[in-house]
Amino acid sequence: MTDVPDITLNNGVTIPQLGFGTFQIDPDATRDAVLAAFEAGYRHIDTAEMYGNERAVGEAVAASGLDRSEIFVTSKLNNGAHARDDALAAFDQTMDELGFEQLDLFLVHWPLPGVGDFVETWHAMEEIYASGRCRAIGVSNFQPPHLRRVMETSETVPAVNQIEAHPYLTQDTVRAYDREHGIATEAWSPIAQGKVLSDPAITEIAARLGRTPAQVVLRWHLQRGDIVFPKSTTPARVTENFDVFGFELTPADMAAISALNRDERTGPDPDTFDHTG
Ligand SMILES: NC(=O)c1ccc[n+]([C@@H]2O[C@H](COP(=O)([O-])OP(=O)(O)OC[C@H]3O[C@@H](n4cnc5c(N)ncnc54)[C@H](OP(=O)(O)O)[C@@H]3O)[C@@H](O)[C@H]2O)c1
Repeated sequence: MTDVPDITLNNGVTIPQLGFGTFQIDPDATRDAVLAAFEAGYRHIDTAEMYGNERAVGEAVAASGLDRSEIFVTSKLNNGAHARDDALAAFDQTMDELGFEQLDLFLVHWPLPGVGDFVETWHAMEEIYASGRCRAIGVSNFQPPHLRRVMETSETVPAVNQIEAHPYLTQDTVRAYDREHGIATEAWSPIAQGKVLSDPAITEIAARLGRTPAQVVLRWHLQRGDIVFPKSTTPARVTENFDVFGFELTPADMAAISALNRDERTGPDPDTFDHTG
């Protein structure tokens, strides 16, 4: 079985650098999809209250036959639950859905700077962490000014910042800020939901190395040092996306992929995203 490298977070907790994403997997299909991922070797699952499939993720963990300590699970606080009491209740609900005693990582899903005060939300996350029911806390879709405000007003530096990142959105500024402050960067939509896979620069490297475009892009993320969790419900792709440790990209290939950046998002802009709109 392939050994996925671990990344050590700023509180000493380790997370497998490659995981399995579950966004847009129907709750009815999630149990089998996650079990297939375990079968392929994945030990890190990314879910969220927003995805509606936490219960099925928990069922797959229970049915896997794996020890709970072998599996790293992340979930996320939903956008309507940013007030302190709502955040604590939402965490209880997430734990109930997953059926866990302890979660590995809990993230604030979006900063929503135009909606409310994410500092209050972060203080609630600190309470959750202090309770011992979650091994690490972090944020998602936070821009440097949001991170700065969190760090100026609290004791706990987020362990991770999960942001959209792929060859068309290389996120150099946010990643540099994360790195400078000991925050691990996680890249969501790592293959831009498939959009980058037909880019000639990527298909050329893939053909030369005898790899698929998805493998080349995932390898680029891993060599940048980021954490990734591609989503697929296609069995062959689940295996393909895990088979990314037997080759290496040269510095020239890394640079050619990074040069594809055009600051193009597939998802919302965190500075303006307002879930109430
Ligand atoms: N924090 C956030 O705000 C946020 C936002 C979005 C996503 N996420 C997380 O990040 C994870 C990954 O992002 P994502 O699901 O948006 O996008 P993604 O992983 O970049 O792409 C998934 C899409 O690509 C296809 N695909 C997967 N592997 C492929 C391969 N080897 N060749 C060709 N096509 C392939 C999948 O199709 P099939 O399934 O049909 O194979 C699916 O349509 C999510 O599942 C979620 O856990 C977080």
